[in-house]
Amino acid sequence: MCGIIGIASAKPVFGNIIEALKKLEYRGYDSAGLSTIDNGEINEKKCSGRVNNLEKILFKNPSKGKLGIGHVRWATHGVPNEINAHPHSSEVVSVVHNGIIENSNSIKNELIKKNYLFKSQTDTEVITQLLTNYLKNYDILDSVHKTLERLEGSFALGIIFKNFKDIVVGARRGSPLAVGYGHEENYIGSDSYALKSMTNKISYLEDGEICILTKDKVEFYNSEKNKINKEILTLSNDENKTTKGDFKDFMSKEINEQSVTSKACLKEYIDHLRKDINFYNFPINPNEVNKITFIGCGTAYHSCLIAKYLFEDLTSITVETDIASEFRYRKIKFKKNNLYVFVSQSGETADTFAALDLCKKNNANTCAIVNVVESSIARTANFVLPIHAGPEIGVASTKAFIGQMLVLYLLSLKISKVRNEITDQNYTKSINDLNNLPSLIKEVLAKRDEIQIIAKDFVDSKGTMFLGRGFSYPIALEGALKLKELSYIHAEGYPAGEMKHGPLALIEDGLPVVVLAPKDKYFEKTISNMQEVIARGGKVFLFTDDDSEIISENIRYKFNIPNSNDYIKPFLLTLPLQMLAYYVASFKNCDIDKPRNLAKSVTVE
Ligand code: F6R
Repeated sequence: MCGIIGIASAKPVFGNIIEALKKLEYRGYDSAGLSTIDNGEINEKKCSGRVNNLEKILFKNPSKGKLGIGHVRWATHGVPNEINAHPHSSEVVSVVHNGIIENSNSIKNELIKKNYLFKSQTDTEVITQLLTNYLKNYDILDSVHKTLERLEGSFALGIIFKNFKDIVVGARRGSPLAVGYGHEENYIGSDSYALKSMTNKISYLEDGEICILTKDKVEFYNSEKNKINKEILTLSNDENKTTKGDFKDFMSKEINEQSVTSKACLKEYIDHLRKDINFYNFPINPNEVNKITFIGCGTAYHSCLIAKYLFEDLTSITVETDIASEFRYRKIKFKKNNLYVFVSQSGETADTFAALDLCKKNNANTCAIVNVVESSIARTANFVLPIHAGPEIGVASTKAFIGQMLVLYLLSLKISKVRNEITDQNYTKSINDLNNLPSLIKEVLAKRDEIQIIAKDFVDSKGTMFLGRGFSYPIALEGALKLKELSYIHAEGYPAGEMKHGPLALIEDGLPVVVLAPKDKYFEKTISNMQEVIARGGKVFLFTDDDSEIISENIRYKFNIPNSNDYIKPFLLTLPLQMLAYYVASFKNCDIDKPRNLAKSVTVE
């Protein structure tokens, strides 16, 4: 989604703004722009398409401005063209915005009556014109404050002013904004990742707060306009984790490093000496929990579905799952002994955050399973369980999904142990088995050549299905999601047992169908469903740990995962499906790291 950068410096800023915008590209966007103050005037440059286009414009005509704001836009109001690209500027002020202004139409009508002109179709331009209006009578802080009071919806803003040549203002409500501290320069950015090459000293704005930066200092104000102090965090220097290295794209790097990231995660939670799982300071006694609701969006929601199967298997706790965008608008009956677990890679997903906020307002017990530990969701939940996957840059989530499932599995084991619902022997065996996970992951990833062969059968297909039962059902959903988002091929995941209730009608000669049939309690049933697909002409690709030859008949390809316990199988089945989506998309020359229309961090609802 949209990304913001702002810099106040002692030297020209456009080069650093361009570099920071490149870092924000991973969020998904369709146009870019920046404004600087040059010779006392606002100098605005914008383009549709990639930051490279903006860079070309600027290199022909470099800006000397020592202060500026930049933006990558993911279109919400108005098509992705140059006019709608941010910044949006008047004579006196230039604004970049992330989020949605829900009452923009009524404000726009009011301003049109006052003879303000609008060039774009965006909601953002009302912020520019409102500010322009207030600046006639008020100082900067009051004008920004009065403008924010009028806005409904969510936003993070970066603002510069023609008449205040050394100031960049940042403000937020609902959308994240980080503030960075450098030598003779200070920054705002949509996330700390955008600022990483410039500083590792970061503060985060909270809702309603405003920051005013010059090159030498940063001031913060709360929603009552009182000056406040903010904690400055020092972020770890993991720049090597945020480059592609020798890989062609971030996604292949991220798929490939899953044995390392899962090992890192296990190291954080498993006490090898005591053969125990550690979750320090868990805020609620697991013996008192009678219901857990797992909430997330997209891939994170699929890991919630896995959690449902895990917790139902390993504990007597009632489990529900919910898609965050549905949960947030339902009439939830919050109860004291219920726990709400939010799963999110970015920790910034607007719907997931709103669902968490709803729980907080109802004094519910909340826990966040996140990758980005400085994120809004991590900072808001009562308790945080990081997945320790390292920065995930490819838009399609891969290593974070494995990390989420891993932490959820560890949590289910620990809660089961504390509640005396698993035997000591099974608990210890599960921990031992988990220690083999990184090497099993490596073993499956080494079979990429086989997946390339399978992928060729999907490249020209118009549609495909992914089938599974039990734990393999959420994995089928995830496999279908990966394929559709990366390769733009229509793909649906179904519980295999549902086929006869409708979807079987879609099977026709040559339709590729992925069947996930690990040797678990559902194996025979899934194989029967597979036979029904084959009988109707479906071209089946079977992913299993069964090594018998009998079932291979009439199967287009059988991909074997190594033997493991039933709880490890979902991890091992996920990997070939990630690779399948990757290779199909790469054979189709799709943009792997930035699939069309998608964003990494979905900060609008
Ligand atoms: C799919 C994907 C998305 C995200 C979803 C939630 O590959 O990445 O479906 O899983 O947008 O994002 P987070 O986990 O950041 O809350």
